[in-house]
Amino acid sequence: MNNNNASTIRLSRSVLGDEEKNAVMRVLDKGFLGMGSEVQAFEQELATFIGTDRPVHCVNTGTSALHLAVEALGIGPGDEVLVPSITYVASFQAVAATGATAVACDVRSDSVYLDVEDAARRVTPRTRAIMPVHYASNVAGVEDVYHLARAKGLRVIEDAAHAFGCRRGNEMVGSTGDIVCFSFDGIKNITSGEGGAVVTGDADIAQYVATARLLGVENDTQKRFSGERSWVFDVLHQGHRHHMSDIMAAIGRAQLKKIEHFGATRRELATGYAAAFGQVEGLTLFDFDYSSSIPHIFPLRVRNGKRDGLMDHLRASGIQCGLHYGPNHLLSYFKTEYALPTAEKLGRELISLPLHPMVSLDDQQRVVTAVQDYLHRHD
Ligand SMILES: Cc1ncc(COP(=O)(O)O)c(C=O)c1O
Repeated sequence: MNNNNASTIRLSRSVLGDEEKNAVMRVLDKGFLGMGSEVQAFEQELATFIGTDRPVHCVNTGTSALHLAVEALGIGPGDEVLVPSITYVASFQAVAATGATAVACDVRSDSVYLDVEDAARRVTPRTRAIMPVHYASNVAGVEDVYHLARAKGLRVIEDAAHAFGCRRGNEMVGSTGDIVCFSFDGIKNITSGEGGAVVTGDADIAQYVATARLLGVENDTQKRFSGERSWVFDVLHQGHRHHMSDIMAAIGRAQLKKIEHFGATRRELATGYAAAFGQVEGLTLFDFDYSSSIPHIFPLRVRNGKRDGLMDHLRASGIQCGLHYGPNHLLSYFKTEYALPTAEKLGRELISLPLHPMVSLDDQQRVVTAVQDYLHRHD
């Protein structure tokens, strides 16, 4: 049973108010819905928030951001990109969309981050890039990835879909690193309805992304930002309809103003779960530092084969839960001939608990009690 009435505690949700509604109305009243001044303003505000001089290029989804990043590197058929098996299938599909192969790697049991030793073993002459995923907004582990990339001459595309607003040391995610891709889909740390962004210090890659998001039409971004469009133009490479619209950007701009509040509530909830479950027999928490992140999800491990039973119990109690994520290398389309033991074990143990700014402390107590009740009864 999957209760979904008023008292259901949702796993995740968009949190929108009058600010977003008014922002959308502002765009509708202008009579121009495509990519224009709102996208330009959102990109500037994102760069200011991240604290970077690098250009930020907004696109229509996080998947498009990853796809353009891979394509911009000239990666295609015959090339390989190393990807952790535990991630949203978007990471794999973004690589596959270029014709390249996403090579599934194992993950670390303490953080679900890419296992760099396993990744190193999978490097071949065809390997071009590594795509680490900042799983559950945790970036500890990325330094090891850059170390491997430097040693093997590989590019790095950070899948930072979970990590908007997070810090890597003293720097915001996006202000450093090779190519960083964000998602602003409906349930992320901020949303623009759907949406994403690419940030890189590599001027050639940035230029490619800017153009390829608009069907490859040369110099179209600047024209559209000033309310014009290109009629006579050249196209030098593959392009897509991957750009963001002004409606999306207007929602994103309103959301960005709320990020301090969103971050504080998400951190409070994640810290609360960690305190409640730290010593509970049968559960294992991940080693995450919530002080530097805005936690997008709260995953944990349920040991001793009790994960599926706990999920059923929570659903029957009106509490939604999730699985971030089943291993991608077990999916038919991405099946490997080799095993990835940690990813497979985590695929049987992971559960995610409700985490979004509208989960109240009372809701959270209901979740904690339901988890504890189930585990006591199945000791
Ligand atoms: C780890 C990860 N990568 C990529 C994506 C893709 O982002 P989007 O849904 O905006 O296409 C997501 C979104 O759910 C994600 O969680």
